[in-house]
Amino acid sequence: ASSATAAHTEIEIQINGQAISCTNNESLLGIAKRVGIEIPHLCYQDGMPAAGNCRACMVEVNGERTLAASCCRHASAGMQVTTNSPRALKAQKMVLELMLADAPPKENQTDGSTNELQYWAQQAGLLATRFTPRPSQARDQSHPAIHVNLDACILCTLCVRACREVQVNDVIGLAFRGSDSKIVFDMDDALGASTCVACGECVQACPTGALLPANPKAQQLPDQKVDSLCPYCGVGCQLTYH
Ligand code: FES
Repeated sequence: ASSATAAHTEIEIQINGQAISCTNNESLLGIAKRVGIEIPHLCYQDGMPAAGNCRACMVEVNGERTLAASCCRHASAGMQVTTNSPRALKAQKMVLELMLADAPPKENQTDGSTNELQYWAQQAGLLATRFTPRPSQARDQSHPAIHVNLDACILCTLCVRACREVQVNDVIGLAFRGSDSKIVFDMDDALGASTCVACGECVQACPTGALLPANPKAQQLPDQKVDSLCPYCGVGCQLTYH
């Protein structure tokens, strides 16, 4: 059999004791989502390659000593996966609490909606964090359509993948090292001075509100003709392009 055939073998696994049919090229998180079992996840989105860097999706597999990131672990026949054991829940909650430490308070967000980090923190019963936030960074409001608040960034790199792999623009990157790591635009330029074309893919991908529409109300306008060649995307800037 070719390797392509082997990559799509029909198998059965158990998640939280529930028998589930799947294929061995599916991730545990993808399978869980498909059958309605919730696992926190912040750096994974359907249709994008998994990065495995937020670690919110940790689960137990076959009673192994080390927990697995369910977005990156593929299923294998007979696998026993536990998403809700005390050990898995403790790991998920700790990751969310650490990320919450840096998150700006909800009332400071420009659009006032609940983002994905807040949603998962609520699901985990986290109302507050015990950890101290890192020093605040200056906001970047240099772009007419997208505002940047790196205090909310969890370095999930979804925006990097959205820009590079979905839109093939390659404006956003991850730069510097360790605790100095941050998302940058081109050569660490202000977003407004970068080669960003305001497609809005990064805003749609961001799970924490680090990238937001400059004008959130524009998103809620009913469909209407606008003086723009830009499709009516999630940014909703409706800019006039010449
Ligand atoms: Fe799995 Fe982020 S969603 S590591």
